[in-house]
Amino acid sequence: MTYLGVDYYPEHWPEEMIDEDINGIIELGANIVRIGEFAWHLMESEEGSFDFSYFDKVIAKLKERGLDVMFGTPTATFPAWLAHKEPGILSEDEHNHPRVFGGRRQYCFNSDAYRKYAARITRKLVEHYKDEEAIVSWQIDNEFGHEGSDMCYCDQCHHKFQGYLAEKYTDIQTLNEEWGTIFWGQTYNDFSEIPIPKPTITTHNPSLKLEWSRFRSDSLNGFAHEMTNIVKEIKGGHQTVTTNVSGGVFDKWFDHAENLRPMDFVSYDNYPVWGGLEKPIPPEAIAMTHDFNRGLLNKNYWIVEELMGAQGHDVIGYLPRPEQAKMWSYQAFAHGCSNMLYFRWRGMTKGAEQFCYGVVDHDNVYGRKYKEVQSLFGEMKNHTELLNSEITSDIAVLYDYDNIWSWRSQIQSKDFDFNEELLRLYRPFYQLNTNIDVIPADRDLDTYKVVVVPVMQVMDEAFADRLRSFANQGGTVIFSFRTGLKGKDNNLRLGEVLPGLVRDMVGARVEEIESLTSDHNLSLQGEGGFSDIPAQVSVWRDLLVAEEAEVLYRYQDYFYKDYAAVTQNTFGEGEVYYVGGGLSESALDKIAQDVVQRHDIDFIESVQDVEAYRRRVGDTSYLFLMNHSDQEKAFQSVDLKPYESKIIKE
Ligand code: GAL
Repeated sequence: MTYLGVDYYPEHWPEEMIDEDINGIIELGANIVRIGEFAWHLMESEEGSFDFSYFDKVIAKLKERGLDVMFGTPTATFPAWLAHKEPGILSEDEHNHPRVFGGRRQYCFNSDAYRKYAARITRKLVEHYKDEEAIVSWQIDNEFGHEGSDMCYCDQCHHKFQGYLAEKYTDIQTLNEEWGTIFWGQTYNDFSEIPIPKPTITTHNPSLKLEWSRFRSDSLNGFAHEMTNIVKEIKGGHQTVTTNVSGGVFDKWFDHAENLRPMDFVSYDNYPVWGGLEKPIPPEAIAMTHDFNRGLLNKNYWIVEELMGAQGHDVIGYLPRPEQAKMWSYQAFAHGCSNMLYFRWRGMTKGAEQFCYGVVDHDNVYGRKYKEVQSLFGEMKNHTELLNSEITSDIAVLYDYDNIWSWRSQIQSKDFDFNEELLRLYRPFYQLNTNIDVIPADRDLDTYKVVVVPVMQVMDEAFADRLRSFANQGGTVIFSFRTGLKGKDNNLRLGEVLPGLVRDMVGARVEEIESLTSDHNLSLQGEGGFSDIPAQVSVWRDLLVAEEAEVLYRYQDYFYKDYAAVTQNTFGEGEVYYVGGGLSESALDKIAQDVVQRHDIDFIESVQDVEAYRRRVGDTSYLFLMNHSDQEKAFQSVDLKPYESKIIKE
């Protein structure tokens, strides 16, 4: 069965509207609604007085009409009485200003008081509904870490950070040695002297900053898992547990795979455009995030918030064109979403999200968007087996949050953006319509033929060894600039020539480096099969000397024209590419084509802006086709109207 539904907030509407709403939701073709995730006050309006009667009535009505329910634990928005009584639960910004009551997610993950109250409401709620047949799934909190809520500089966090360090390093000399606190005379006599990276003159120690990032991650995940364990301990056997991942997955201070580890499945909130954006993010960026979410538990996932209308808090931007939001849903299903709920049933007339438009707007007219969702639900109902079929990929793109946070605290080039650099290497394979997994770097690589390792500046020997044996056995590895620069302590290694631990694989060494801006494009000269393909680098350049490797591109400027920019090496049975800068598209397209051909990887040719994604059920294969443009396009003999999407049997 496929769950299709909407995020419904019955508490926002007059009670007498519920029957009409349920009719509308059923007419839409839905079989599930998600409720409850911001309604703490409705369940505990005063400290300790728990009352679930409102939701009892709602659930009875939903159940009577055959709708199932996903219920969100309400800890993302705490009641005003709690903030008033326990102001210490409020998180603080870097200037130690508390985030006052009024927005959402303003609690500190390290507040013992918050943990106590949050655990209690979670426990009471799940105890109340553990036997409720209609509730098939629990969502923990809402969008952990979103909107900057993963960062807090309060004293509780500071003390716990010192405790975290004391536990990890045991004695202060070890920490001093590892962090190099001799520099600028920062040597500590005791863990209690260690600061958190609040504003100072210039910048903090890089090891401190990376440990702070890890500590932030542990803090958030510690809270999330405490709540998850409560739900798991009490819930009914028929109920599953999830939490919803928000967009901007690489811009967060927590390890997502760790966050989702105890969940039954991943839920994702898919907003290809939000707030003041003038246009949606590019199709490959949307696709990459789907592949990332599928990769978290390595299986198909849900979308519990799929946009239909324009969205924004105080600023609104782009309106998804007719059929465009539906096409994004097709794209999500193609990449492994198996169940989907739209955000939200109806846009609210009051409160901070007046301008988050839903399936229905405040005019309560069942219009164009309603019909679009209705048609999507109608079409998807027949594809349960297809939507649940397993996706396998020959290509993996690897990421590691330690590396991301290391970059985030020292971007080195003013225009460096981790998302862009990961997408730079993901996009050429996306263009070939190959299946790609986006996964944490510690996953098993045995089933892949190609491993893409963007800007992996933080690396340990175990990882380098795994890549070495992967290439040795015939795999292709693609690195980009700054590879192997640092160890897990976020420091450089004395006497080590870059790319450090993987220099033998790359067969080239980096002699000097230069940070470029994104509009500073340096022309390269291609060699061999690349001589006819013009290319540039921006953002960064490594000046490479090929040792065993073959040179694919060289720089052309006077001082550096002997240096290579891109190399390819044979290593064992495999091959290793090194892309020494922010390389332009055509050159990367050629690399991807060569690699896909070499490994005989399934790819599909399509015109620009038409995405094709192949799925298999037994011996039958299907193509999901998505036209990402406002122009008519064709895929083989299939015509696609602007933003049209469809599934065809091959
Ligand atoms: C999501 C969030 C929802 C709602 C929505 C608006 O990030 O989970 O609660 O705020 O955005 O687009």
